[in-house]
Amino acid sequence: MSNEVLVHAEAGVMTVTLNRLDRKNAITSEMYAALADAIARAQQDASVRVVLMQGHETVFSAGNDIGDFLHQPPADEDRPVFRFLHGIAGFGKPLLAAVCGPAVGIGTTLLFHCDLVYAGDNAAFSMPFVNLGLCPEAASSLLAPQLLGYHRAAEALLLGEPFMAEAALEVGLVNRVLPPTEVNGYAQAQARKLAAKPLASLVETKRLMKQGQQPAVLQQMAAEGDTFRRLLVAPAAKEAFTAFMEKRKPDFSKV
Ligand code: COA
Repeated sequence: MSNEVLVHAEAGVMTVTLNRLDRKNAITSEMYAALADAIARAQQDASVRVVLMQGHETVFSAGNDIGDFLHQPPADEDRPVFRFLHGIAGFGKPLLAAVCGPAVGIGTTLLFHCDLVYAGDNAAFSMPFVNLGLCPEAASSLLAPQLLGYHRAAEALLLGEPFMAEAALEVGLVNRVLPPTEVNGYAQAQARKLAAKPLASLVETKRLMKQGQQPAVLQQMAAEGDTFRRLLVAPAAKEAFTAFMEKRKPDFSKV
């Protein structure tokens, strides 16, 4: 496994750490594969009772690696990114996240599938899919309006502007805001509290909370996936990705 995703299991908690700081934890196809494998292992391994996803105190994730989007766009549902998204959407045990600094794209949308989220006061959440010529993923076009309310979701998804930790706390996307240096430790302590509880009760309780919504989530993810894959190779996205790589503003006037 690549050291850009670190996986450590202890005391019933599998901690999955994004570790590609020189690229602000942007996630490559190889990293999605490692993440998807870790989630699949956690689902099956009886010694794992809880999973915690975390980044660094300065950055959670810059989202999908844009070079990857340009050079190897995920062409079908079997690609690692979609395997990872299905893995977290269907994960039966508690899933926690500790988020500091930027959480861009999938760095925010994966949180809709977490049970508990702890954030640093430096956390900045954003879903700039439209700015990249793309559309939402991870069922965020369903879950963001539900959680944030339609108009705040439209602001986040159409304008793609970041919102900060306090706003995320207010709408219930995060459970608690802490100093960045304390977030991973606090989330780990909460994960261990959960890991000490009866697993069957945790799993059944999560299943009961989620089961009404699950078919709609999977249906939305499939619909988003079809559109996302089409837009990924369309001119607007190509212009956005190329502009990012060339460190210039995109010009959408001709697309
Ligand atoms: N894909 C590929 N490379 C990325 C990246 C991404 N998603 N995000 C950042 N990087 C690279 C930058 O190009 C830069 O590379 P360089 O050192 O060769 O110049 C390096 O990581 C550091 O990023 P930088 O932009 O200088 O850091 P910052 O602290 O000023 O800003 C972010 C951090 C996350 C706000 C900013 O990098 C950003 O907006 N990234 C793009 C996010 C995005 O649109 N993701 C796709 C979502 S679908």
